[in-house]
Amino acid sequence: MSSSNLVRQLTEGLPSELLATLRKLSDIAAAQSHILYLVGGAVRDILLKRPSLDIDLTVEGDALALVPHFAVILGLPKVTHPSFGTASFGWGPYTIDVATARRERYRRPGALPQVEPSTLMEDLHRRDFTINAMAIHLSPSRFGEQIDPFGGRGDLRKRLIRILHPESFKDDATRILRALRYEQRLGFRLEKGTEAYLRRDRAMLNTVGRDRLRQGWELILKEEKPETILNRAAALGITLHASLSGDSWLAKVFPKARQAWGTPPPPPSLYLAIFCYALSPEGAEAVIQSLRLTKGTAKVIMDTLQIKEDIPSLAQADLLPSRIYRLLQQRSNQAILAASLATDSSLIQNRLQTYLNTLRYIKPHLNGQALQRMGVLPGTDLGKLLKALHQARLDQEVTTIEEEQAWVYRWLEAKAEKKGED
Ligand code: CTP
Repeated sequence: MSSSNLVRQLTEGLPSELLATLRKLSDIAAAQSHILYLVGGAVRDILLKRPSLDIDLTVEGDALALVPHFAVILGLPKVTHPSFGTASFGWGPYTIDVATARRERYRRPGALPQVEPSTLMEDLHRRDFTINAMAIHLSPSRFGEQIDPFGGRGDLRKRLIRILHPESFKDDATRILRALRYEQRLGFRLEKGTEAYLRRDRAMLNTVGRDRLRQGWELILKEEKPETILNRAAALGITLHASLSGDSWLAKVFPKARQAWGTPPPPPSLYLAIFCYALSPEGAEAVIQSLRLTKGTAKVIMDTLQIKEDIPSLAQADLLPSRIYRLLQQRSNQAILAASLATDSSLIQNRLQTYLNTLRYIKPHLNGQALQRMGVLPGTDLGKLLKALHQARLDQEVTTIEEEQAWVYRWLEAKAEKKGED
């Protein structure tokens, strides 16, 4: 095990108030004969000089016994998950997670592990990759000491993602998706043996529950360039669904989606709708079921495919704006954007963009109350009139409020004449 002191890196990597708070927490832990460590992703990111908002603390002892004291120091309410022996605090933009050091036993592949309190070493040993299996001592007498039993620091230097033991992906196949995520995010590579085990065990992803699988893929879609990860996954024989594989089309369209969406980056549902564009509605339904996607995401995907089916109508010559509006008004805006990014036709792109940028905001100046003041009685007529006025406004038959009023009087006159004839 290598040992060196990382006080300098801690000081440079964390804001001074946060570091002072961690020291205070560690003092409290020490007073109760517990040892506190900084672990996991925060250690990795501090060593890489990357910002990290997740501060994971591990306690050798009983984290939950310390948590009420920590809550006082942090002056914050806590959120606890007692079955896992963990607690979370929001500290400014940071989340401080406190957990009891634990070992995990996997009864069968894909199952959630059985968890028991343990030592820090066992806690590090249950982790996914060497670069995530390091800790920093926070106890007052050994503050800053590096704990790196698996050579994580060396792998950071070599820029490698390496599992701790050959059964790692079998124990938890979501690590396959995590490995791909770190590769792209950090610009690292899978270590050769790790890649071979990943290829060997890739089918184990089928043993993972749908919710964990969805979370794993959503985390990928929240990375900076998900298309790179999806393409790398495809090269390793890993797909989000049998019918969906990363390819050059995706590599072209996803960056456009980011550009169109702006900041914050697009939600996974937008990427998924683009990804599913080539599928039939039945094929998309199978994807939705296989990942148990939320109702909201399912609607974006299915709306996108509905727009694709409506392309012949949307492509008609001399299409009135009100017709474009009617074809799209029930569709989610994300779906309209997804379809505009996915379609090859510039005519369709223009029409979808016109809806998103202009048509959806156009409303008549006159509302129901104004029409009633003009003598229109509430009821079906009012509804019909409002709809017709909206249509006239969309098609630019009327623009100003005066034109709308004149238009309404004409409509009412025509109606009265028709009644007289009847
Ligand atoms: N971990 C693991 N196996 C998993 C999930 C998590 O070993 N399937 C461990 C890793 O040591 C990881 C830590 O739990 O560092 C915290 O998990 P998470 O917050 O998901 O990862 P971070 O490393 O903090 O990564 P990220 O920056 O993506 O949040």
